[in-house]
Amino acid sequence: KKPLIISTDPGIDDVAAMTVSLFADELDVKMIVPTWGNVSLEHTLQNTLDLENFLHTKVPVVKGANQPLVRPAISAASVHGKTGIAGFEFETANDDLLEKGLAATKMYEVIKNSPEKVTLLGVGPLTDFALLFKQYPDVVENIAEVYIMGGNIGHGNHSPFAEYNIAGDPEAAQIVFHSGLPVYVAPLEIGDKAHLTQDQMDKIKKCDEVGNMLYSMFSHIHEPDGDTRIKIYDPTAVGIMLHPEFFSLKPANVEIELAGRYTYGASVMDFLSEKHNAQIATDVDTEKFATWFIQSIQAANNG
Ligand code: BDR
Ligand code: CA
Repeated sequence: KKPLIISTDPGIDDVAAMTVSLFADELDVKMIVPTWGNVSLEHTLQNTLDLENFLHTKVPVVKGANQPLVRPAISAASVHGKTGIAGFEFETANDDLLEKGLAATKMYEVIKNSPEKVTLLGVGPLTDFALLFKQYPDVVENIAEVYIMGGNIGHGNHSPFAEYNIAGDPEAAQIVFHSGLPVYVAPLEIGDKAHLTQDQMDKIKKCDEVGNMLYSMFSHIHEPDGDTRIKIYDPTAVGIMLHPEFFSLKPANVEIELAGRYTYGASVMDFLSEKHNAQIATDVDTEKFATWFIQSIQAANNG
């Protein structure tokens, strides 16, 4: 099983990404690090604990970053609801799974103690992974790969040029793209392409308790552009990790715009460059992806 650390800002699609990861046969989730992001850390942390309580999983949780490295925090409460998970109310969990300590240090310990290289999954702003790389530069020797949902090839969803997770902490994203590790990217366009059809939503609704929970939340997403299709961004990064054969991956050199007045936070993906620091998913077999996603939700019900 691949040992995995998840950095996440739940967030409706984050809940879906965590759920499918926690029950994937191929994965051994070692730690979850909720970060500020879609909503404040206070909510993303509680949502993570509540989700684990709902799913009866016991993965340790460590409190992540409270704000981005440099600029003030942004918010996506208008998309995901005030608490980050509109449409569903979990029972409030206690903090038994919460481990004390700084996220970077706790991640470092898990990674250094793992006999196998650990994989990182980042489906929110990348503040905590950046802090990990800065604080413990030798950590890269024990990391296999980094999978992220973030960035855009075309128009952004936070600004014309920037996608939300990268716009949230552009400096952190630049550090991650320059970590020297293989970075696999599920950009905005893949989440759009893999949007759920009504038929797929109906199937999810039928997936017992877990399907019901996700169906209720998905029905409450409000895309900033008013698009009513249900785009499931974060699970696409899990899809690339477990089923790269569903995707077309293209090498690119990615730089994050850190100075632009109108383009701050843009992910500049150069597919023509001779240098490559990332593999970008540019297409997805939507049928295969959806089938896998729905089966994974069913698997979560069966424990
Ligand atoms: C990303 O931003 C967040 O709102 C979602 O959870 C996803 O990670 C999409 O741009
Ligand atoms: Ca997210």
